Amino acid sequence: MTLYGETTKMLTVSDLAAMKRAGEKISCLTAYDASFAAVLDNAGIDVLLVGDSLGMVVQGEASTLPVTIDDMVYHGRCVAKTRRRAFLIVDLPFASYALPEQALNNAARLMRESGAQMVKLEGAKPAIVAFLVEQGIPVCGHLGLLPQSVNRLGGYRVQGRDADQAERILADAEALEQAGAGALVLECVPAELAERISRRLAIPVIGIGAGAACDGQVLVLYDMLDIGAGKRPRFSKNFMAGAAGIADAVGRYHAAVKSGEFPGSEHAY
Ligand code: KIV
Repeated sequence: MTLYGETTKMLTVSDLAAMKRAGEKISCLTAYDASFAAVLDNAGIDVLLVGDSLGMVVQGEASTLPVTIDDMVYHGRCVAKTRRRAFLIVDLPFASYALPEQALNNAARLMRESGAQMVKLEGAKPAIVAFLVEQGIPVCGHLGLLPQSVNRLGGYRVQGRDADQAERILADAEALEQAGAGALVLECVPAELAERISRRLAIPVIGIGAGAACDGQVLVLYDMLDIGAGKRPRFSKNFMAGAAGIADAVGRYHAAVKSGEFPGSEHAY
């Protein structure tokens, strides 16, 4: 990429919003290094998410909690080096955004040092989101199953199954949008609730285990390539089955998200 006359235009937050308005599904995968980032970008994946899931799939930890801001900066920078077109979101890790100033310092590091175009944080934190947005930092919310709160939730379980919980998640989603969030990840919620939220919000809603009606889909790369150390979650799919190689599997995922073929009802709750 050169300053002017660049060959490939990087997607922006406005492009993602336009895709939602046009009814075009947004494809997203997690990425943690330069080589995979290049494969994903070449396959046309719209959004690369440097997720703190790297703690589990790259570092071999039992949860995402041990991941540090230095880890996120490092992996974000690796991914940013080879992506040409995809929009880049980097996670704020566990306990790195409890207070506004702390959130700002850490989010600024991700933007400045890793090349993130947007940071993602978990939970109903509209005040923190509003503060970051005011400082010029685009934020993606994350509701439903919150892996950083696994100890409070008592495990990796579907969220929003009962009516009260569902209304709470819907209200939280609206509050995040009002606070200025530019996108929302919805993880492991019933498909019906995800559909309501996706219709209600103007910002793109990217689902993982949240059914087909979301504006986009994200999967953990290693799960969909069937190289995860643990059991593949029910909402994921092995795209390596029948594929000629990794690039082909990623291309198939991209096509399946764009056409609405993935996720099927067997991947939803
Ligand atoms: O860390 C991550 O990979 C994520 C996805 C599961 C959405 O947040």
